[in-house]
Amino acid sequence: MARGFLSLLSALLVVGAVRAKTAEEFIGTQAAVAKAGMLANIGPSGSRASGAKAGVVIASPSSHDPDYLYTWTRDSSLVFKAILDHYTAGEDDSLRGHIDAFVASQKRIQQVENPSGTVETGGLGEPKFHIDETAFTENWGRPQRDGPALRATTLIGFANHLLAHNDPAYVTNDLWPMIKLDLDYVAANWGNHGFDLWEEVDSMSFFTTGMQHRSLREGATLATALGHHDLVSNYATQANASLCLLQTYWNHDNYITANTGGGRSGIDSNTVLTSIHTFDIEAGCDSTTFQPCSDKALANLLKYVDAFRGIYNVNANIPGNEAVATGRYPEDHYMGGHPWYLTTLAVAEQLYDAILTWKKFNSITVSDISHGFFSRLVPDVATGTYDGNSETFHKLIGAVQAFADGFVAKVAQFTPEDGAMSEQYNRDNGVPLAAAHLTWSYGSAMSAFAARAGFVPASWGAAGLKADSC
Ligand SMILES: *[C@@H]1O[C@H](CO)[C@@H](O)[C@H](O)[C@H]1NC(C)=O
Repeated sequence: MARGFLSLLSALLVVGAVRAKTAEEFIGTQAAVAKAGMLANIGPSGSRASGAKAGVVIASPSSHDPDYLYTWTRDSSLVFKAILDHYTAGEDDSLRGHIDAFVASQKRIQQVENPSGTVETGGLGEPKFHIDETAFTENWGRPQRDGPALRATTLIGFANHLLAHNDPAYVTNDLWPMIKLDLDYVAANWGNHGFDLWEEVDSMSFFTTGMQHRSLREGATLATALGHHDLVSNYATQANASLCLLQTYWNHDNYITANTGGGRSGIDSNTVLTSIHTFDIEAGCDSTTFQPCSDKALANLLKYVDAFRGIYNVNANIPGNEAVATGRYPEDHYMGGHPWYLTTLAVAEQLYDAILTWKKFNSITVSDISHGFFSRLVPDVATGTYDGNSETFHKLIGAVQAFADGFVAKVAQFTPEDGAMSEQYNRDNGVPLAAAHLTWSYGSAMSAFAARAGFVPASWGAAGLKADSC
């Protein structure tokens, strides 16, 4: 009798231990872990950031195999955009000190002469610095031209927030001169090749072009608001031209080619990341800017996700309408070519952004381009437009929500009990790999969870843009 009870109890415990966490359960604990994980990687007082100057974001505390104990302009700007969004949403006023420290640090870093040049001769395209803000002088894939654009977007977001709260002095004196440096760099260089966000391919890159276009567009608006009319026409002209370039990455195989070089399929998380980091709900499901719910971005998402179904053992035997682990790009061999936390979460975030937009506009359109995506989730759906009162609208929302939650649950499955998020997880057994406590992994969790909870980032002017006179 006692033995029977004990074996029943242990069986229950085992079942309890292996039962998969839902997205909701995971977020319940992981949201706080992710936020703390980001802050721990920011100097000077972050618990894992010793030696980093105030406001400097370390990429990871890992100092060997791989050595990520540097600060990248891309990672830092994306992480601070997530922090800024959390702050401006009124979630945590104590973040203001970190944001001010980030601004002060970037102001110094912009002026550091480095192998890409001085502040006037191309130095803003330098990808990474030492955590004491000195130049990194060894060989590297440089320049990387997404950095100035991403930094401008984060600083413009902060400036717009301050202007809306009647605090123009800091914007005029501190933020605008920095923003102008970055925008001038982007305006002069968006047509030039450089290394992609994975630091491997030297060509034109969709992510870089997308971020450059966004920064120029919102930069022109801010320049107008601050009375710098002499600059507006150049920013707007370059924005229009870069939007034309952005169209050229779409290919006839129903997806976005991530890079013009590199000799790969071009199927790459680069494209999903672009969609979420250029989300503007006011643009609806516009495909000119590849909005998260646009037919092109959804077709692309399906192509990207499917590319990982057959190549990772952790994805074996998962039906085609369910979430899987995803990585940077299918041909990836870096450190073994494993799935990444931030790329898996980006898929969820794109889908959450899409749901927010469909709900706001009370309509879903299934086009010839996006039919493959929708019919994977709801097999009998026909092309057409479904309004918020229709049964199909609700069926599609429910199916996309479940699909999105599946990607969060996938990350939950392969995140250790303490919530630590490294860069990658093993393609065969899901064990965490590569750089420990990757700041960008935590940032990607913050922004995906915020999107699931209904957070809508500030608009940047994507609504109504046209690229038909290209
Ligand atoms: C940018 O393109 C739009 C059309 O999409 C046009 O109305 C506008 O004048 C253009 N701006 C500049 C500065 O060329």
